[in-house]
Amino acid sequence: MYFYGTFPEDFTWGVSSAAYQIEGGWDADGKGPSIWDNFTHVPGNIKNNDTGDIACDSYNKVEEDIYLLRALGVKNYRFSLSWPRIFPNGRNNSINSHGVDYYNRLIDGLVANNITPIITLYHWDLPQALQDIGGWESSALIDLFDSYADFCFRTFGDRVKFWITINEPQVIAWASYGSGELPPNVKDPGSAPYKVAHILLKAHARVYHTYDDKYRASQRGVIALCPNIDWAEPKTPSDPKDIEAADRYLQFLVGWFAHPVFKNGDYPEVMKWKVGNRSELQNLPSSRLPVFTAEERDYIRGTADVFFFNTYTSKIVTHATTRLSPISYEYDQEVLTKVDSSWPSSAVTGHRAVAWGLRRLLNWIKEEYGNPPIYIIENGVGLATKSSIDDNTRIFYYKTYIDEALKAYKLDGVNLKGYNAWSFMDNFEWLNGYDPTFGLHQVDFDNPNRPRTPKRSAVYYAEIIRNNGIPF
Ligand code: NOJ
Repeated sequence: MYFYGTFPEDFTWGVSSAAYQIEGGWDADGKGPSIWDNFTHVPGNIKNNDTGDIACDSYNKVEEDIYLLRALGVKNYRFSLSWPRIFPNGRNNSINSHGVDYYNRLIDGLVANNITPIITLYHWDLPQALQDIGGWESSALIDLFDSYADFCFRTFGDRVKFWITINEPQVIAWASYGSGELPPNVKDPGSAPYKVAHILLKAHARVYHTYDDKYRASQRGVIALCPNIDWAEPKTPSDPKDIEAADRYLQFLVGWFAHPVFKNGDYPEVMKWKVGNRSELQNLPSSRLPVFTAEERDYIRGTADVFFFNTYTSKIVTHATTRLSPISYEYDQEVLTKVDSSWPSSAVTGHRAVAWGLRRLLNWIKEEYGNPPIYIIENGVGLATKSSIDDNTRIFYYKTYIDEALKAYKLDGVNLKGYNAWSFMDNFEWLNGYDPTFGLHQVDFDNPNRPRTPKRSAVYYAEIIRNNGIPF
């Protein structure tokens, strides 16, 4: 352990959440339905038939949530706006003033308490009305997302200086449109993920330019997207095939979105080889990767001011010697991934505590994208011990991960600016419902008032924040 040294004075510590996972009030005061409302209302879709109808009831608990944030001593709070709470039918002709009021109360409360709001514009809860016209497979969403974002900048941007356009675009592309386990459940691994990603990138870039052209001069904020990243460790570090495979894994996961935005406006070369035109040379199904025009590449390049990302685990990656079948995420990459059974497990399949992976990952971002300012926007562990306040496993997770982040900052010169724990409180964990839990605060979901109680990890995290590093 690297138990000495602190983070820089202006390091920002925070906690994170997302609208559908905590707000509840799914149809309150004129909110429109999202694809998640409709999906969770079908029995059998979610573990225990849980829904986000009430969730943590944060829609009715602005003061209480701010009180808890103050007690933690966080410098920032990252949350998302529910698009259908603001525009019930997804379009700017249907503004719901009650939804706007809710976010104004939250933002005002945060600012009054010196807590910086970091807002995600899109964390998966698409207005159903926009799914009905094709969702992210339709390029109409580019304009519609832009007019929603424009409204948010105009309405909240006087007080909000950190904007995340899209949370985990790779999950949207693959889990919602490829394998299809997440709504809108499109199972079209052959081409939909690449088509959707293409639209997501254009939508992101459009919103970035709107901010740049209309708001940056007066509001002076930063804006970027937020990929999810697992560190990829080659199975045999001396085998060039495995080294290449691990890099391919990162290019498909991160580079898919970060390469266009941070580098040259275009997809990584290796993606073009594996799923683009050049795959013809290898006798593979060809041209599933759409192509940007030169004008689009110019437009997309440079559309991120900082590097936000979420991370939970690492993977061991091997070069796949035979093509898998049918087409899948791993098929396209020609890799096999697994976790190492010696890594401490969590309640989430595929998530293991591998703190050293975070240091390698931070160094990879630094090298790959020219040492941008980096914010770890989500990091945490899901545990099965529902409602347990004695979450020493989580303390171990945070201690070791933050320790590795400190090494990356102090010893490796990574330009790390902030760290956010996922999550502020136990919440609706998508297909898994309310079990496992990721929170620093326990929420009693059997009690209609949804009382919150700080866990041991909350006390520990507050100490880290006070020390600006790991306490002695
Ligand atoms: C990342 C997602 O952004 C968040 O919504 C989710 O709850 C966490 N991963 C944990 O799985």
